[in-house]
Amino acid sequence: MPVSTPYQVLVVGNPVLNTRSDDVTDVDGKFVKLCEDMFTTMYAAPGIGLAAPQIGVQKRFFVYDLGAGDGQQVLINPEITGSGGEMEYFEGCLSIPGLHFDIVRPERIGVKGRDLEGNEVEFEADDLLARLIQHELDHLDGILMLERMDDDQRKQALKKIRELQMKAAGVPEPEPKRSFFRLR
Ligand code: NI
Repeated sequence: MPVSTPYQVLVVGNPVLNTRSDDVTDVDGKFVKLCEDMFTTMYAAPGIGLAAPQIGVQKRFFVYDLGAGDGQQVLINPEITGSGGEMEYFEGCLSIPGLHFDIVRPERIGVKGRDLEGNEVEFEADDLLARLIQHELDHLDGILMLERMDDDQRKQALKKIRELQMKAAGVPEPEPKRSFFRLR
């Protein structure tokens, strides 16, 4: 039996994942509980970041935990204020389960937003944190990592996604073609 989690992570094909989310206006007790449930869902997946639209909540925030010293983080109404450099990273997404692709994005970014106490935060990030924030912020804009791939990668990814969807739907794999006539 799979472990039950507060939410199920939506997967590619769900239109919510292609929709731009709205700003968060109320950071209240209900919101804090929602974040807690998102962390539970994220750890169970397991993942290091989860954006609200991935559980069907069309609001601009995401939770993350890189497993380093900083622990659980929530970033609300985030914006990227600047970027520099380039970095290729073998990126995955809980909404595109099982697939990873080398994707190029800026290496460093400036970020601002709000934390769970409602304070304004502004900081610089690089490496894995910069990657995570860009990936999760894309979710808030309705952008999946498919849109960050080159044409060949996207073709390959879409093919694999179709295969996984058919498998999940219980469609049997096509039988290998047999020649009707025996060859001499
Ligand atoms: Ni993702």
